[in-house]
Amino acid sequence: MDYRTLCQQAEAMLREEPWYVSAMSNLSALIMETMTELNWAGFYLMRDGQLTAGPFQGKPACIHIAPGKGVCGTAAAGNETVVVPDVHLFPGHIACDGASESEIVIPIHREGKVAGVLDMDSPVKNRFQQEDREGLEAFVRILERWVKWE
Ligand code: SME
Repeated sequence: MDYRTLCQQAEAMLREEPWYVSAMSNLSALIMETMTELNWAGFYLMRDGQLTAGPFQGKPACIHIAPGKGVCGTAAAGNETVVVPDVHLFPGHIACDGASESEIVIPIHREGKVAGVLDMDSPVKNRFQQEDREGLEAFVRILERWVKWE
C-alpha cells in the first residue's frame, strides 16, 4: 500500500477544505477507495464524554461508544493505536458489521487530548500490519495538523 501517496492526497483535501465534516467525509471516502479489503472506515468523535459516530463509509454503525469500551473506546482511553488481528478474540469488541474480522483504531488529538479515533474494519483476519499502523498514524498526524474543528 502506497501510504506516501495516500498522505499527499489527504493533505491536498485538507488544504482545500479543513472543516472537519467535509474533510473527514472525503478522507473516509479516500480510504475506502484506495485501500483493499475494508468493509468500514471512518471516524468517531468525542462528544459529551462519549465517542460518537462521525463521517464514515460502510454499513450503519453503533452511534455511541463509551471510553474504555470496544476497540474504539480502548484506543481512546489508552491514547494509543489498537490493532486487532481477530475481532472475535478481543474481549468486549462491539460488532457493527458482522463481516468484520480484523480492525485498527488510531486516536486523533486536539490540543493534546484525544478528540476522536480513526476506525477501520476488514472482512479478512490479520489485515492490518506494522506498515499499515505506521502509514495510518502518519495519515492521522496530517489530519491533526490541518483539520479545523469549528
Ligand atoms: N468495532 C468497534 C465498533 C465500531 S465499528 O467497528 C464501526 C469497537 O469495538 O469499538
